Amino acid sequence: MTPVVTIREIGRWVGQTVRLQGWLYNKRSSGKIQFLQVRDGTGLIQCVVVRSEVGDEIFARCDKLTQECSLTVDGVVRADERAPSGYELTVTDVNLIGPSHDYPITLKEHGVDFLLDHRHLWIRTPRQRAILKIRAEVMRAMSLYLDGHGFTRVDPPILTPAACEGTTELFHTRYFDEDAYLTQSGQLYLEAAAMALGKVYSMGPAFRAEKSKTRRHLIEFWMIEPEMAFFRHEDNLRLQEEFVSFVVKHVLDNCEPELRTLGRDVDKLSKVVPPFPRMTYDEAVAWLNQHGHDLKWGDDFGAPHETAIAEQFDKPVFIERYPTHLKAFYMQPDPDRPEVVLCADMLAPEGYGEIVGGSERIHDYYLLKRRFEEHQLPEEAYGWYLDLRKYGSVPHSGFGIGLERTVAWICGLEHVREAIPFPRMLYRLYP
Ligand code: 4AD
Ligand code: MG
Repeated sequence: MTPVVTIREIGRWVGQTVRLQGWLYNKRSSGKIQFLQVRDGTGLIQCVVVRSEVGDEIFARCDKLTQECSLTVDGVVRADERAPSGYELTVTDVNLIGPSHDYPITLKEHGVDFLLDHRHLWIRTPRQRAILKIRAEVMRAMSLYLDGHGFTRVDPPILTPAACEGTTELFHTRYFDEDAYLTQSGQLYLEAAAMALGKVYSMGPAFRAEKSKTRRHLIEFWMIEPEMAFFRHEDNLRLQEEFVSFVVKHVLDNCEPELRTLGRDVDKLSKVVPPFPRMTYDEAVAWLNQHGHDLKWGDDFGAPHETAIAEQFDKPVFIERYPTHLKAFYMQPDPDRPEVVLCADMLAPEGYGEIVGGSERIHDYYLLKRRFEEHQLPEEAYGWYLDLRKYGSVPHSGFGIGLERTVAWICGLEHVREAIPFPRMLYRLYP
């Protein structure tokens, strides 16, 4: 029996005959020899078919193979330094499993709308495969870190009765006879869970009905949200820089072939170690005004501002203590300066913008109640959240990290749409 092996582990079989199961990525031929590039989900390898060795019948069979047909290939594994994977297969037999005619994505350039319309096939290309692999490793690294540091994973609901991050970007739906919204963030529920379990996190989808069409925005994205009882603002920032550095190092250690496929400059990533630089909002405004931007205290930053600030550093940078009115209702005021809150956004280097938003949360019952009034938030929907301040309230903090923005940065992508298997964007729900 010929052993069935994957391309990733093929190096263990040098000199032996093995079987690969996969798809034909590309084919070249020169009369007496055909080169089949076969992919199997774990990698890509060149399979060499020599007419004088396989005979006319198998050679003719190979001649008929078309792009993205599925097949099995038997052959002898040879180490080859010139091959990108380090190995080649000298073919002894080939069998077609499923034909593929007129495959729409050819190996020439395609426009991005065409590719997005064919996302179900586009993900087969080595570049997209590498991105999805890294995305999975980023999620694994995040769980590894948090599970290893005393966090318990908790899954907040997707269908919710109220907003977390402001009411303008809510996806409305019906919940039988009630109004309901798709979650924008699990934070409020995680705060409840932190009072039950101490340190908790979630990993799941979040929805924002934002009419933004930028390279950083998705309508449906994934967020990882740690929430920690007894953590102050400072503890929160320290955790964030350790966590992000761990994730980057994990990808560097475990995804070398994928980063190479993407042509990522890994030297830039290896600089991501704690501590991260910090600027207050006030310092950031002053710096921007000294560098050709025109901003008043109280204005929010746009993408060009974030990029300009981040470009000064080769690591992510924290912008701390934003004006209260720019941020969500639940953030704890700075005790020395109540016009700002104990929050921070983490901006990734190389122009990727905000990847993390976090803060210390209000733990005082009366202050939170006042915020509800100021923001005109209905107490029926949030009564349970106020309860957390009524029964054994403690200082606590947390943050949310956007998975796709993090993956886009680590992979060096131009747009977050490639960082999720099936992107939901403004005006795109297909496929
Ligand atoms: O800054 P945001 O809105 O923070 C929250 O939702 C908090 N409740 C999180 C918390 O403290 N538990 O979102 C957090 C992160 C952003 O920094 C960004 O990386 C990502 O989520 N994000 C988006 N990613 C893609 N597309 C969008 N439309 C995003 N909106 C936010
Ligand atoms: Mg934010």
